Amino acid sequence: MSRKEFSVAVVGATGAVGELMIRVLEERNFPVGEMRYMAAPGEAGKVMKWKGEDVVVQAATPDSFKGVQIALFSAGGKPSLDLAPVAAEAGAVVIDNSSAFRMDPEIPLVVPEVNPGDVALYRHRGIIANPNCTTIIMLVALKPLHDFARVRRVVVSSYQSASGAGAKGIAELEQQARDWSAGKPLEVSAFRHQLFFNLIPHIDSFTENGFTKEEMKMHNETRKMLHDDRIMVNATCVRVAVLTAHSESVTIETEKEITPGKAVELLKAAPGVEVMDEPEKGVYPMPLFAAGQDICYVGRIRKDFSAPNSLNFWVVGDQLRKGAATNAVQIAEILARDYL
Ligand SMILES: NC(=O)c1ccc[n+]([C@@H]2O[C@H](COP(=O)([O-])OP(=O)(O)OC[C@H]3O[C@@H](n4cnc5c(N)ncnc54)[C@H](OP(=O)(O)O)[C@@H]3O)[C@@H](O)[C@H]2O)c1
Repeated sequence: MSRKEFSVAVVGATGAVGELMIRVLEERNFPVGEMRYMAAPGEAGKVMKWKGEDVVVQAATPDSFKGVQIALFSAGGKPSLDLAPVAAEAGAVVIDNSSAFRMDPEIPLVVPEVNPGDVALYRHRGIIANPNCTTIIMLVALKPLHDFARVRRVVVSSYQSASGAGAKGIAELEQQARDWSAGKPLEVSAFRHQLFFNLIPHIDSFTENGFTKEEMKMHNETRKMLHDDRIMVNATCVRVAVLTAHSESVTIETEKEITPGKAVELLKAAPGVEVMDEPEKGVYPMPLFAAGQDICYVGRIRKDFSAPNSLNFWVVGDQLRKGAATNAVQIAEILARDYL
């Protein structure tokens, strides 16, 4: 018997996440019957490949979703707010990469390694939100530790790559490297300051409490996915001159003690994580090696001697893949397997 196939649309197909989403659907052999690519009107008519065949990119409009069963959105907040409810109304299940719906109590926010059961809540509104990339990478490592010892407080500093700002972020860092080598002045537009030879402690806009929206996403989304409002997350998010993969220095305080040895044991048994922790041999996770991978790497696991029941670790993951495209496709796989 042939397996069931689905009509799939990728909205934002020409973007950094959208293009990768197409590649991940191919790599994982997702059962696609019909594939549609959509983008802003300016990219309509562009031809892109799906499994070697040409697909013409169409402008995403309210009329584009008839017959679509799964719509993967990665076009930014405004197109998601405008079109995701229309796509859901037309019968598609939307998996949305923007922050537009993440904190809506009727919309599930899902990392398959963390809270796969929440996918069922898509029935309320026909939309599932893909979490913030930095939060996904941290939570894949945090979940097994939380299940064992109950995390109460997290202090995290992120080192986020240029591609977190999309195709224009990648292009700008590469151009700055070329211009610097050629002795030319560096142009700045995608980021607030020059990123090449620099880092910028400012991602997204500032909120009233002095934290950025990106930092508050880590707090709010962690609580929502772990179903635990007692967890406090204190984040500092920093853009660094790396092309792909986000790194995070994480300190957790837990209800009961968790030794580094126990943490290694738990992480080795957890899905989506690999322990890479032989620091004396120079073995620890780095963005150069995590880029292009679907799993998150954890290392530098050590007891925090400055507080009781406290542990430090370092986690690195490809935020375009696990932080966006792969996570969305994994959600689609759960939908296809269990719900549609
Ligand atoms: N980059 C990351 O690491 C990352 C991680 C997690 C989540 N996300 C989220 O994923 C989304 C896409 O991010 P990205 O990094 O891929 O950005 P990007 O490279 O700038 O791509 C944006 C895509 O959206 C399309 N688009 C823009 N306006 C549109 C409209 N009105 N209707 C339909 N399509 C439209 C663009 O089409 P044109 O090419 O025609 O402009 C492009 O295909 C954002 O919501 C972002 O927050 C990104």
